[in-house]
Amino acid sequence: VSASTEGAGLAARHALGWLLFGCTVGLWMALGLVAPRLGDTLAPWTYGRWAPVHLNSLLYGWSALPWVGLLLRAYAAPLSGWLGARTAVTAWSATLAYGCARWLSGDTSGKLFMDWRGESRLLFPAALLLLSGTLLRGLIGGWRNWDRRGRFFRSALWLVLAPVGPLLGWAADPSLYPPVNPDSGGPTGVSLLGSTLALIGILLATPALLGLPQAPGACRRTRRLAVGLALHLAVLAALPWGEASHHDPLQIAAMASLLPWPIWLLRIGRGVQWPEGARPWLLAFAGWGAFLTASACLLFLPGWLERAKFTNLLVGHAHAAMAGMLSAYLAVILLALSPDARGLGSPGAFWAWQAGSVLHVLATKGAGGLEAFHPGIAFSASTAFSTLYVLRLLSGVLLTGAAVHWWRRASAPPGLESSPCPNP
Ligand code: HEM
Repeated sequence: VSASTEGAGLAARHALGWLLFGCTVGLWMALGLVAPRLGDTLAPWTYGRWAPVHLNSLLYGWSALPWVGLLLRAYAAPLSGWLGARTAVTAWSATLAYGCARWLSGDTSGKLFMDWRGESRLLFPAALLLLSGTLLRGLIGGWRNWDRRGRFFRSALWLVLAPVGPLLGWAADPSLYPPVNPDSGGPTGVSLLGSTLALIGILLATPALLGLPQAPGACRRTRRLAVGLALHLAVLAALPWGEASHHDPLQIAAMASLLPWPIWLLRIGRGVQWPEGARPWLLAFAGWGAFLTASACLLFLPGWLERAKFTNLLVGHAHAAMAGMLSAYLAVILLALSPDARGLGSPGAFWAWQAGSVLHVLATKGAGGLEAFHPGIAFSASTAFSTLYVLRLLSGVLLTGAAVHWWRRASAPPGLESSPCPNP
């Protein structure tokens, strides 16, 4: 096992640990919504304090660490030493754990997904800087082993990634906000297009970064799509970036221009030699991706967004995006990165996760639909609404059960599972 593979394995185990933690917190929150009195048992750690812990542990832990593992492997980062993979991954998790402790103590800026405040606002970006140091050490150490393209690609990517830590610390300033849609208080169509194109760029580069073999046709298609992405980004750059309403046809067109991308991405995926056990996850990723792109465009339409905003419809959207689509891709990355993630290939846990995600999205979208037409229903004694919350709780049991399985498989000593039963 090479040092870089061990670093990626460590990141994979941390990611699965954060998934289990985040799901357990989500389950506790869902239970609190069904039986609010239960929340008192852990006071002052009440619902509002658990909410940022749930979001951020799943975003910065589960959703981010697989990419950290991918980078550690792509840069052949050594495992030990001050600038080793072990220090980088431990610092990442330790500063995130510190953030969770601060959010639980009520220290939150309220800036969703950018909730770094006080010393956490220094510590977490510092952990990101440490990671860039680790990648640089790997880049210098492995320089001779890569050809010219490999060196250029890694150097260019490092230059793009190195400022992310300080930028994150700066962007966490609660007085700093991107352009806002004045009719919803949410992001504009142009900002949503920008963030989705960035995600598409990452998805295009991932098979190469993972070192997965690709058929010549797939390489050609990837290059063509990279050119298409560059053109789309050029159009984005020419669009007005200021505040704009979703009633503006240009903002709707910006969102709708994303619709063909799931089909194009699917076509390049077919020529890649994905790791064993990845196929069901890739199909799930494609299904969730198509559902999400179509439903996000509908949700953005005038008349619909006004009703959906601040209801469970957006909670359902967030879970379709993160528990459904993104998590499916993260599973593929982890399967490619490390044997520690082999549990993700278990069909039982896969189906439990998919059933849990579908049920979660149906229940929250259903609850959101009720809220859209009966604002305030969440505060009345509605049997239909309460039943949907109970269903969401059940979905949480399925999701957490799958997370327990993956965590147990990742923490089992290597070789133990495959060893034959000893003869009596
Ligand atoms: C055991 C599984 C889970 C349960 C029971 C659960 C439950 C919840 C609950 C109760 C909320 C708060 C909604 C509200 O305040 O009305 C929430 C929000 C959220 N959860 Fe989960 N969750 C789970 C898994 C996940 C996973 C795996 C992810 C991401 C990978 C995730 C991402 C989010 C996000 C982004 C939000 C914010 C939604 C918003 O504010 O619009 N959750 N979740």
